[in-house]
Amino acid sequence: MANIKTIGVLTSGGDAPGMNAAIRAVTRAAIYNGFKVKGFYRGYRGLVDNEVVDLKTQNVSNIIQHGGTILKTARCKEFKTVEGRQKAWETIKKNGIDALVVIGGDGSLSGARQFASEYDFPIVGLPGTIDNDLYGTDHTIGYDTALNTIMWCVDRIRDTAYSHERLFFIEVMGREAGFLALNGAIASGAEAAIIPEISIEHDQLAELIQNGFRDSKNSAIVLVAESPVTGGAMGLAERVRTEFPQYDVRVTILGHLQRGGSPTAQDRILATRMGAAAIDALMEGQRNIMIGDDDEKIIYTPFSKAIKLEKTIDRSLLETLRQLSL
Ligand code: ADP
Ligand code: F6P
Repeated sequence: MANIKTIGVLTSGGDAPGMNAAIRAVTRAAIYNGFKVKGFYRGYRGLVDNEVVDLKTQNVSNIIQHGGTILKTARCKEFKTVEGRQKAWETIKKNGIDALVVIGGDGSLSGARQFASEYDFPIVGLPGTIDNDLYGTDHTIGYDTALNTIMWCVDRIRDTAYSHERLFFIEVMGREAGFLALNGAIASGAEAAIIPEISIEHDQLAELIQNGFRDSKNSAIVLVAESPVTGGAMGLAERVRTEFPQYDVRVTILGHLQRGGSPTAQDRILATRMGAAAIDALMEGQRNIMIGDDDEKIIYTPFSKAIKLEKTIDRSLLETLRQLSL
C-alpha cells in the first residue's frame, strides 16, 4: 500500500439514491482502518475551489436512508481543462490528501481517470448513477431505487390508461442507455420498451404499430428511453398522432423524480459494500479502478474499461415483453 494517511471523497455528476450510504461506508470504513477522511463539496468543483469538510463518524450519522448527497454534486466544466485540474491538484496537496474515492457516473470516472494519470495519484471509483450504464458492474448505485420509482409511477398511469383506453408513452432517464426503460417495462408489465440500443438498428415504433400495440386490450403502456435515437416520448407520440389518429395518445415524462427518494434496501446494501470495498482496495494498493458487483461478488475494473466498454443489455427481455403483451 502507498503511504496513505488521509482519504478524500466526493460525489459527482447526476445524483443517485444511495450516494449517502456510500459516503457513510467510505467514511466509517476509512476511520475504522485508521485513516482521516475529508469530503469535497459539489464534485470536482470542490476540488477546484477547495471546498472541503472533515468527515468524522458522526458527520455521516442518520444519512443512509436519504436520497441525494450530503456532499452535494455538480457538473464542473473547469475540471475538464488542464488549468482546472492543476487547481484541483493544489487543493489535494494543500489538504494532504493521499488518495481519493470518486462516486459518480461515466463522466465522473472519465475525469478521475484523466486526473489520476496526469498526477500519478491513486483514485478508486464507485459507480453512482441511476443509469446502470457502466461496464464492470451488474448494478450501479441508485439504479434499483430509480427502477422502483418508475414501477410505482407506471402502476398509477396504468390505472388511467386502462380506464380511458389510451396509449401512453412514458419517458424515462438513462442518457444513452436503455436499462431503466427495459427493466422498468418488465417490472411494471408494460407492453413495450423503446431503447436506443435497438432503435439504432430498426424502427421499433413501426414494428409496434404493425403488431397493433396490443391485440386484446385497448390501452397500452410503452416505456421510452430518453435519447435522440429513440425520438423520446414526445417525438414518438407525435408520429402516432399524425400517422395513426385512431389512437388516443398521451405522454408522461418522469424526469428528475427518478433521481430522488429514499434508497431501496438493495441500493443501501450495494453502496455500503462498495464503499467499504473502496477502502479495502486502497489498502491493497489498488488504484485507478472502479468497484463493481459481479454476481454478488465485488470486482475491480480499470477506469479505462469501465468507461470505454459498452455494457450489454439483455435483448431477450424485449422478446419477453412482446410475448407477454398478448
Ligand atoms: P456523470 O458522472 O453522472 O456521468 P457527467 O458526465 O456530467 O456526469 O460528468 C461529471 C463531471 O465529471 C463533469 O462535470 C466534469 O467535471 C467531469 N468530467 C467528465 N468527463 C471528463 C473528462 N473527460 N475529463 C475531465 N473531467 C471530466
Ligand atoms: O446520468 C444521470 C442522468 O439522470 C441521466 O439519466 C440524465 O440524462 C441526466 O442525468 C440528466 O441530467 P441533469 O440533471 O443535468 O438534467
